[in-house]
Amino acid sequence: MAQADIGVYGLGTMGSALALNLADHGFRVAVTNRETDWIADFVSEAGPLAQHLVPAATLEQFVAALKTPRTILFMIPSGAPMDAMIAAVTPLLSDGDTIIDGGNADFNATRARDAALQGSGIHFVGMGVSGGEEGARHGPSMMVGGSDHSWVQLKPMAEAIAAKYKGDPCVAHVGPDGAGHFVKTVHNGIEYADMQMIAELYGLLRDGAGRNAPQIGEVFARWNAGPLQSYLMNISARVLQSVDPETGHPMVDVILDKAGQKGTGRWTVIEALKLGQSASAIEAAIAARGWSSEKDARQAGETVLAADAQPAAVPQDADLENAMLAGRILAHAQGFRLLQAASDEFGWSLDLARIAEIWRAGCIIRSALLDDFAAALRSDMPFGHMILAPRMVDMLAASIGPLRRVVAQAALAGVPVPALSGALSWYDTMRHGRGSTNMIQAQRDFFGAHGFERLDKDGKHHGMWMRD
Ligand code: 6PG
Repeated sequence: MAQADIGVYGLGTMGSALALNLADHGFRVAVTNRETDWIADFVSEAGPLAQHLVPAATLEQFVAALKTPRTILFMIPSGAPMDAMIAAVTPLLSDGDTIIDGGNADFNATRARDAALQGSGIHFVGMGVSGGEEGARHGPSMMVGGSDHSWVQLKPMAEAIAAKYKGDPCVAHVGPDGAGHFVKTVHNGIEYADMQMIAELYGLLRDGAGRNAPQIGEVFARWNAGPLQSYLMNISARVLQSVDPETGHPMVDVILDKAGQKGTGRWTVIEALKLGQSASAIEAAIAARGWSSEKDARQAGETVLAADAQPAAVPQDADLENAMLAGRILAHAQGFRLLQAASDEFGWSLDLARIAEIWRAGCIIRSALLDDFAAALRSDMPFGHMILAPRMVDMLAASIGPLRRVVAQAALAGVPVPALSGALSWYDTMRHGRGSTNMIQAQRDFFGAHGFERLDKDGKHHGMWMRD
C-alpha cells in the first residue's frame, strides 16, 4: 500500500476537518486518535474520501504508515498532552521527521519544545490554524513556525488546503521556532478586540439608541456591504437576526452576558507587556470579558453606583460605522506593532505585510481592510508603526472624528466602550510629540531618586525638589 503523505493525530473537530481537507486535495492521510474507537467511525463517515485515509490503531502503525521524512500533525489540547505525545512519538521517528503542533499553544512552550528537540534530528513546528471547523475543512489560514526543512515538506500540502485570496494561499512560513504560534496569538488578540468593538457598538445601538436586535442586525448587514466587510461583522449581523425557537425572542436577548475565553487573547496582552508594548484595544477586550463574568457584582452596582449621565446626542449610524473603522485600524496597528517588537526581540524577521496577506481569507479576522493593511505594511512605515504609513494616516484622518464623537457621546451617556476608547487614547498618545510622562519622571525622582533625562542637556539628572 502507498505510504501516507502526512499523519493527523487527534480526530476532534479541528483534526478531523483538516484530515478531510487534506484527503479532499488528494493527499494520503494516516489518521489516529487517543480514543481508538473514534477512528473507525471517522473513516466510515468520510464517505468516498476514506480511500485517501490510512487508519492506524497504534502509534507504531501510524508512524510506519508515513513516507519519510515524516510529517505528523498533532491536533490535540496544548500543554501537557502535547509534551506527552512528543515523548511517546520521538523514539519512533528518524532524522528529518517533523512534529507539528497545530493547536493554540503558548509560543513560549513552542520555543521550549523546539529547543528541547534541537540536535535530535527531529523538527518541531508550531502552526497557528484559524477559521474554526469550517475553515479547517474548506480552507483555513495557517501561520507556520519551525525550520525551513519542515516547511519544504509541509508547503505543498499546506498551500493546497489553505484558504485562497484571489488565488493566493493564505499560509506562510512566518519564522522559526515559536513565530507561528506567536502570530496566531496576536491574531486572536485582534479577534478579541474586533469582537469587543462590535459588541460595544451593539450596546450603544441597544442602550443608547433603543434599537432592537433585528434592527441592529440590519445596520450591521449594511456596514458589512461597505469598508467594514468582514467575517466578524457578517456573523454579528446574522447573530442579531437569529431567533430562539423556544421563546421566539431574538437569540442574543436570551444569552447570559458573561463571555468565556480560552486564554489566547490574554497571552497577547501578557507578551505585549513583557515586550514593553501595550495593545490597549486588545487589553480592553480581555478586561471586558473578565468584568463580564462578575455578573452579580455588576447587578449590585447597577442599583448603587450613580451614572450621573449627561445629556448626549445619540450617535449617528454613519459615525458608528466610521468609529468601528478607526477602531479596527488601531487594534490591528497595535497587533502589528507587537509583532514587530517580538520579531526584533527574537530575531524572527517577520514579514508583517505577508502576515496581513495570509489573514485576508480563511481566518476569523478576515476583512476587506486587511488588503489595505498589507499595502500599508509594504509601504514606507516610519518607526515600524502602521498608523504612520501614509495610507493609514489618510484613512484615520477620515474616521478619527467619528470615533472621537462616539467615545465622547458614550462617556456622556454612561455607556461603556473600553476597546473603542482604548484605541482612541492610544491614537491621541501617538500624535503628541510632547506627552505628560515628564511628570512621571519627576515623581519617580522625587520619591526614589531615580533620575531623569533633560530636554536641554545629555546625561542623567536629579531635581531640586521642594520638600516639606
Ligand atoms: C480561530 C480562533 C480559534 C479560537 C476561538 C475561541 O482563529 O479560529 O481564534 O482558534 O480558539 O476563537 O477563542 P476563545 O475561547 O478564547 O474566545
